[in-house]
Amino acid sequence: MSFFKSATRDVPERLPVPRHIAIIMDGNGRWAKKRFLPRVAGHVKGIESVREIVRACIERGVEYLTLFAFSSENWRRPEEEVSLLMRLFVTALQQEVDKLDRNGVRLRVIGDLSRFDARLQELIHHAEAVTAGNTRLHLTIAANYGGRWDILQAVNRLTAAASDKAGIWTETDLEPYLSTHFAPEPDLFIRTGGEQRVSNFLLWQLAYAELYFTETLWPEFGANALGLAIQSYQGRERRFGRTSEQLTDQSGNA
Ligand code: IPE
Ligand code: IPE
Ligand code: MG
Repeated sequence: MSFFKSATRDVPERLPVPRHIAIIMDGNGRWAKKRFLPRVAGHVKGIESVREIVRACIERGVEYLTLFAFSSENWRRPEEEVSLLMRLFVTALQQEVDKLDRNGVRLRVIGDLSRFDARLQELIHHAEAVTAGNTRLHLTIAANYGGRWDILQAVNRLTAAASDKAGIWTETDLEPYLSTHFAPEPDLFIRTGGEQRVSNFLLWQLAYAELYFTETLWPEFGANALGLAIQSYQGRERRFGRTSEQLTDQSGNA
């Protein structure tokens, strides 16, 4: 049972700093291409942006940061790029986990992990276990993740757990089975790299997220760029279905 407010069943409180930011880190390949470098150089550089954004989120008091690192459709890329991305994932886990732990970051990886090789799965479980007691920032990496996969795995687990109730499921029944059950719904969605699409990221969870798209390529996205995204978020009126007048009349609790 989730203790977070749902955007469709409740009206989440209005907070100046987004509690949960979800980011599609796009544009690594184009960043490299502009510099006549191989695409993988863009992915390597992109890891620096991850570090900077994690730090910036801690400083600003963001509690949940969810990063799309590899989609269920990214297996369609050339084999060489996929295997380099997997290797980078392994090295990043090996190199960063202690530092994340020292900084109070709890790391989770969501997605269909069964397709990763045994060593990578082991590293993921180790990293999750090492950081399990941390609460300062919940950092979630979406890897071999797809929003449709997430909804389907939740439906499958829900119906297996309580097959007698078939036909009368509610949102409240399903939500504990989503891979982000431990987090409130994202307040702010950011996509770098100029594309304006969701690319099968958190389809259910983004229902009422504020969407922010920037041309900035992920390897160039730093603390200042994050600040601009948060500033844009702060200027939005989050109505959750109500009218603007209702918000000003009743300080958001209509
Ligand atoms: C995002 O950057 C990283 C992953 C999808 C792994 P891209 O690799 O998609 O970069 P572009 O979109 O080709 O520039
Ligand atoms: C989305 O980026 C996935 C990640 C950033 C991991 P893509 O670059 O794969 O998205 P599309 O193919 O342009 O929609
Ligand atoms: Mg891309």
